[in-house]
Amino acid sequence: MAEVRIVQITDPADVPICAQLCREAVADDPFIRFMDLYNQEMDFIDETKKRLNNALDPANTDEIAFKAVLDVPEENGTTHEEIVGVAHWYHGNVTIPKYDTFMKEVQEEPNEIMPDEIAAGSGGSTPSSTTVVSPEPAVVVKNAEEAITHVYRQHGNAYISTVRGKRHVYCRRMMVSPKHQRKGIGRKLIEWGVNKADEENIVGYLNARPAAMKLYQAAGFEPVAPLNCVIPEGDEQFIVPTGYAMLRKPRPLADQVK
Ligand SMILES: CC(C)(COP(=O)(O)OP(=O)(O)OC[C@H]1O[C@@H](n2cnc3c(N)ncnc32)[C@H](O)[C@@H]1OP(=O)(O)O)[C@@H](O)C(=O)NCCC(=O)NCCS
Repeated sequence: MAEVRIVQITDPADVPICAQLCREAVADDPFIRFMDLYNQEMDFIDETKKRLNNALDPANTDEIAFKAVLDVPEENGTTHEEIVGVAHWYHGNVTIPKYDTFMKEVQEEPNEIMPDEIAAGSGGSTPSSTTVVSPEPAVVVKNAEEAITHVYRQHGNAYISTVRGKRHVYCRRMMVSPKHQRKGIGRKLIEWGVNKADEENIVGYLNARPAAMKLYQAAGFEPVAPLNCVIPEGDEQFIVPTGYAMLRKPRPLADQVK
C-alpha cells in the first residue's frame, strides 16, 4: 500500500466526502443502527458534516480534524488523492452538553469493566463490532425517547465525571474506510491527540466502540466507564455491545526519551 499521509482538513469540499466515509465505516455498528432507529432527530451524516465544518472554522481553535490520504497513481503518471480515514478532536476544557445530565437514571445491573471478548473487538480480519455479543441481558425502557435520553445522559455523565476540571484532548470521531481498515491507518490518525496530550501533559478522552478498543488501548487509553444501551420495550432482541469511555494519562515527554 502507498504511504498514508495525515493532513489537517481545511477545505470544506472535503467535508461531505469525509462524512460519507464515516457513514460507511460505521454501517455495521449496532450502536449506530440503534441511534438511527430511535433518534429521529439526528442524522449521522448531517451531524458529522456539522462537526467537521465547526472544526474547519478558523475562529474555532478548540477543534481540529484530520484526513488520512493515499496518493493513488493514475495511468498518465499523475496521482489523485483518496481520503481513507478521518479523525476529529476537541482540545480544551469540559463544555456543558445540551442534555440534562441530572435526569432520573435508568436502573442497570452493574457491569464488569471490559470483559476480554469485548476488549478484543471482533478479533477477525474484517473489522466489525457486529460479531461481538454482549453478555448482558437488555435493560428495557418504555420507548425510544427514554432509550435515547439514556444514551446522551450516560455519555454526558461519563465525560463530565471523567475530565471535569482537567484540560484534555477528546477524540470525537475516528473512522477508517472499510476497504482500508487493519492497515495501520487508525494508529496514524490517533497520533495527533496522543502527541498533543503528552506535549501539554494533559489527559486524553474518547468513547470507544468495541472494535476500536484494542487500538485505543495500544495508544495508552484505559476503560473508565461502560456505555450500555437500554432497549425500548418490544425490541429486546436488539443487542448493542457495550462500549467504554476511555481515559489516557499523559506520558511526560521527559519519560519517553529515557
Ligand atoms: C476502529 C478503526 C478506526 C481502526 O482503524 P484501522 O485503521 O482499521 O486500525 P489499525 O489498522 O491502525 O489497527 C491498529 C490495531 O488496532 C486493533 N484493531 C483495529 N481494528 C480492530 C478490530 N476490528 N478488532 C480488533 N482489533 C482491532 C488491532 O490491534 C490493530 O493492530 P493489528 O492489525 O496489528 O492487529 C476502524 O476499524 C474503523 O473505522 N472502524 C469502524 C468505525 C469505528 O468503530 N470507529 C471507532 C469509533 S470509537
